[in-house]
Amino acid sequence: MKQVAEGLWTQNGDRIRFFGIPFDTRATIVRLPGGGLWLHSPVRPSPDRLAAVQARGPIAHIVAPNRIHGAYTTDWARAAEQAQVWVSPKFPDRHPDIRFDHLLGNAAPAEWANMLDQCVFAGHAYLDEVVFLHRPSGTLIVTDIYQRHDPAREPGFWRVFKGLAGMMAPKGAMPPDMRLAFTDRAAARAARDRILAWEFDRILLPHSVPVETGGKETLTRALKWLG
Ligand SMILES: [Fe+2]
Repeated sequence: MKQVAEGLWTQNGDRIRFFGIPFDTRATIVRLPGGGLWLHSPVRPSPDRLAAVQARGPIAHIVAPNRIHGAYTTDWARAAEQAQVWVSPKFPDRHPDIRFDHLLGNAAPAEWANMLDQCVFAGHAYLDEVVFLHRPSGTLIVTDIYQRHDPAREPGFWRVFKGLAGMMAPKGAMPPDMRLAFTDRAAARAARDRILAWEFDRILLPHSVPVETGGKETLTRALKWLG
């Protein structure tokens, strides 16, 4: 685990394939004011990874931030029986078999509202990503709507493929197939504007090189095409 700021860590996971395309995976972990841990998009839980998280505190919440990001939710929930599972609005449609306790909405629940903000990036045909803000460190936690993959991690073919899609660091972009599937741009713009009004400078991304500084300018540029 890597400490990013006070009470904020990332944890690297496996390199996975989604529709044949390789992706690095990385979880984000927040320590809430009461001491419990909040796990965003947790990675495959090997015994070492599980122990590393549990050494920082009890797992209180497990978050599947969009409908294609919950592969290991059940494994973590099994390892942390006291934890509550939170999933994105459309997650149960795609994963009717995965047990959850709460749907994520457009407002942070009382369980973490004193530390995190959240906003559903609305208006998309199939994706329902919930974007989070860790207020104390000014860190935005994005999942798939913006990606900038690490050139050092991509062998030739995938570097070219992802480069043509605009998904390589440093610039990065929303994946082109995702851009094409917005059905309500006004709703997407409203979500974007709400997120860009938050105070943040860093962006953590599960598949990508984090944006250490200048995050607001970076995201503003990446979402400008929404109009
Ligand atoms: Fe993803």
